[in-house]
Amino acid sequence: MRYTNQKFKSAFQRYKIVFLFIFNGIISVRAQTNSIILGRPTDHSITASVMFDQNVQFYLEYGTKSSVYPSTTSTFTSIANTPIEVSLSNLEANTRYYYRMLYRLVGSNNYTATPEYSFHTQRAVNSPFTFTIEADEHLYDKKGVKNMYNVTLANQAADKPDFMLSLGDIFGDDHQPFSITSGALDSLHRDYRPFLGNICHSVPFYVCLGNHEGENDYYYGITPPNNLCIMATQWRKFYYPNPYPDGFYTGNTDIEPYGIGNPENYYAWTWGDALFVVLDVYRDQCDTSAKPGGWSWTLGFPQYNWLKNTLESSNSKYKFVFAHHIRGQGRGGVTNAKLYEWGGYDGQNGTNYNFPNKRPGWAKPIHQLFIDNGVNIFFQGHDHVFAHEVLDNITYQSAPMAADSTYEIGMLANADAYVSDTINGTGHIRVNVTPSCVKVDYIRAYLPADTLSGAHRNGEIAFSYTIGTCAVTGTIDPKNEEIVNIFPNPAKDKLTIQYANDTNISRLVRIQNAVGQTLVQTQSQTIDVNHIPDGIYFLTIDADNSHIVKKIVINH
Ligand SMILES: [Fe+2]
Repeated sequence: MRYTNQKFKSAFQRYKIVFLFIFNGIISVRAQTNSIILGRPTDHSITASVMFDQNVQFYLEYGTKSSVYPSTTSTFTSIANTPIEVSLSNLEANTRYYYRMLYRLVGSNNYTATPEYSFHTQRAVNSPFTFTIEADEHLYDKKGVKNMYNVTLANQAADKPDFMLSLGDIFGDDHQPFSITSGALDSLHRDYRPFLGNICHSVPFYVCLGNHEGENDYYYGITPPNNLCIMATQWRKFYYPNPYPDGFYTGNTDIEPYGIGNPENYYAWTWGDALFVVLDVYRDQCDTSAKPGGWSWTLGFPQYNWLKNTLESSNSKYKFVFAHHIRGQGRGGVTNAKLYEWGGYDGQNGTNYNFPNKRPGWAKPIHQLFIDNGVNIFFQGHDHVFAHEVLDNITYQSAPMAADSTYEIGMLANADAYVSDTINGTGHIRVNVTPSCVKVDYIRAYLPADTLSGAHRNGEIAFSYTIGTCAVTGTIDPKNEEIVNIFPNPAKDKLTIQYANDTNISRLVRIQNAVGQTLVQTQSQTIDVNHIPDGIYFLTIDADNSHIVKKIVINH
C-alpha cells in the first residue's frame, strides 16, 4: 500500500488520530510468532502441533531431500494462541524428512516461509540414533531460570536427537492445588511453547508426568470437572501431543469423561534397537483421598499389567523405562527401588518382603520385572541431581535439572539419598544407541558468564558410561581427534596422559575392559592403575568435540 493518494492524505490531515490507530492496527502489523512442537513420531507419521499468536493461514511442505518438498498439507486457519495438530502420514520408515511451514495473516496475500526443519521416522533395527532427556524444568518457580533452560535446550538440539523426553515437573500446576483456575493452568502450559518451540520443530517431544503436573488421583475426584487433575490434563493435551495406543504405540486405553478422552499419560514404543516405556506414577492410587505413601502408592493394576506384558513381549536389544520417580513420594534411586510395589519390601527397615500380601494376584515387584526382562536403564527425575546407581545389573539413572543456574540445588538437597555417582550441575542426558552398545553422557550446561574462569565449558561431558562394548567398536571422528600421548604403555603402576593442546579443556578419561565395564573415571592426567588386573584395556578421552579411544596394556 502506498500513501500518495490525495484523498488519503486529506483524510490523514483530518483524522490524524484515527489514522495512527489504523496504521498500527492494519498496515504495520507485528510479525506472527509461531511454535511447532513435534510429537508422536512413528514409522509412517508424525504430529506437528502448530500455534501462532495471531489468526494465520498456514501449511507444511515436506520431503526426503533438503530443500525439495514434493508433499504439501492442506491449508489450515488457526486462531491466535490455539494450537492445531497437523498429522503428516504415509511417510517412509527409517527416513529423515525435511520440511518448512508457510504462513500468512488471514486476509494477506503473501506467504512467509520458516527455515527448514527436519525429523526422523522410526529407526530400523541396527540403525544407530541419539535421544536426550531433561527433567524438572521448574520455570514456574525460582528454581528454573529461563536463560539457563535455553542453554540446555540448545545443547540438546546440538546433539541432533531423534526425540527428547522430559521426565516431569515441567508446568508446576499444583502450587495452589485447590484454588488454581483453568485460566492459570492454560498459562502454565502455554508458557513453555516458546522455549520448546526453539528446538522441538526438529526434535519430537515426549511428556513424562511429574508430581507438580498435578494430574494426580487424589485431585481427580474433587468437584469434577473443576479440579486440578482434570483441568491440567485438558490443558497439557491441548498444547502437547503425547502418544496414545494406535498400533505403533501401546499404553493407556482408558477414555476418561469431561472431555479428556485418552489421558495420554503412559505409553511405550520401539525405536531402532530399543524399547521405550514411559510410566505415570500418579493417576492411579490405592487411597484416592490423600497423597499416597508406602503401599498406597501404585501404578494401578492396568498399568502394571501393561508394563509386564510390554516388557515380556519385547525382543528389543535394549530396554529403557522412564518415570518421574520410583514412588509417588521419597527420594533416591536404588534404595527406593527395594521398597513397596517397586521392590516388594516394607519400608521400615526394608527386610520384610510383603509383596504377596499387599499385591495379591500380581506376579512380582516392578524391579523384579526389570530383572527378569532385561531392562537396562531406569531413568527418573524429581531429585534435581545427576545420580548413577546400579542394582542387580539395572542402572538407575537420575537426571539433573535443566534450568538451575546455581548448579547445585539438587546436590545440596538430595544427594544423600543416593549411594553412588552423584554429580552437581545443570544440563541434560544424552543417550546414543548403537547395535553394539548404549553410551550415556551427562552434558553440562553453563551460562556464558559462568565459563569465564575457564574451569568449565558449556557442553562439557561430566559423566559417561556404556552398556555393551562401545569402547571396542566406538567410532572416532579423525577430524576431532586431538593429539595425545599416553605412557608408559604397557603400564605398571601409573599412566600419564599428555595433550598437545594442553589448555584448560575439561576432559573425561575412562579405562574400560573388553566388555565395556568402566574401571576408572577421572579428569586427572595421572592415573593409578595398581588395582587393575593385568590385561588389555581401552582408555577413552571425551572432550567437547572429541572422543578418543586408545588401547592400553597393564602389566604389573
Ligand atoms: Fe518432582
